[in-house]
Amino acid sequence: MKPMFGLETFIKINKCLFPVAGYGTRFLPATKAIPKEMLPILTKPLIQYGVEEAMSAGMTTMAMVTSKYKQAIKNHFEPHSDIEASIKDTTKESLLDEVNHTSSVCNFTYIEQDQMLGLGHAIYTGKPLIGNEPFAVILPDDLCTSTPQGGTEKSDGDSVLKQMTKLYQQHPDCCIVAIEEVPMIEVDKYGVIDGELLEGSNDAYRVNSMVEKPSLKDAPTNLAIIGRYILTPDIFDVLESTEPDKNGEIQITDALMTLAKQGKVIAYKFKGKRFDCGNVEGFVVATNYFAKEQGII
Ligand code: G1P
Repeated sequence: MKPMFGLETFIKINKCLFPVAGYGTRFLPATKAIPKEMLPILTKPLIQYGVEEAMSAGMTTMAMVTSKYKQAIKNHFEPHSDIEASIKDTTKESLLDEVNHTSSVCNFTYIEQDQMLGLGHAIYTGKPLIGNEPFAVILPDDLCTSTPQGGTEKSDGDSVLKQMTKLYQQHPDCCIVAIEEVPMIEVDKYGVIDGELLEGSNDAYRVNSMVEKPSLKDAPTNLAIIGRYILTPDIFDVLESTEPDKNGEIQITDALMTLAKQGKVIAYKFKGKRFDCGNVEGFVVATNYFAKEQGII
């Protein structure tokens, strides 16, 4: 990197992409009319946790790859003057403060994805919203917190995406994926990486291979990718020529493997805690965790 006024150039990541077009069939019937990203942990929808995490990492454009059935997500981030009037000067007035702050600080952009052809396809669909700049991706099903309960895990308070943007500054030509160790029997639910720790690091790996949802016997490690990515814009060219997998889906893991072969993917073992809110059990665990944190139970 070129020094600028004696300092290293800081590459700001402005945009965060949210692939939110999926049907959320695991949560039917709840998700028949309500997008799964609108399901709340306590009173806050999953999508709002994701947007707040992106904001905490300095991003102000929230790029939603959505579908025609998910108007509720757009509505959530727009003002609602009737509700606001009805709670004005009551004890409930502050309940909309967080989401209203989000709406006033951020720019929300939307594009519709017509076909569900895998996460890689969803990310590629978002290309017109991103352009030629590095960007983050949040899968709101993976709810992350940086203040673990019990205090056994160390956390410096930065959100997972903030931790990743800091690492990105040291490796601006690389994509970064967040990883965590999962039980070996669960590797078939994730993209799994193999790599070597970067010199002097105990949490960042140079990825040399990655495989989407491997069987137990094919998994190189138990280091699973979770729903946080920082991607360089060259990923779009790679996605264009990435072949669909055996189910006809274009996987971001396969596209990243192409870049990993060039040494351009880093996997980062984040500090904090992740809840898999893409299934009912994980959703309940997250709900209990946040209810305890807030002294509700
Ligand atoms: C996607 C990715 C997978 C990743 C996971 C994280 O899978 O394809 O590599 O490990 O998100 O949540 P999905 O959960 O959409 O099937």
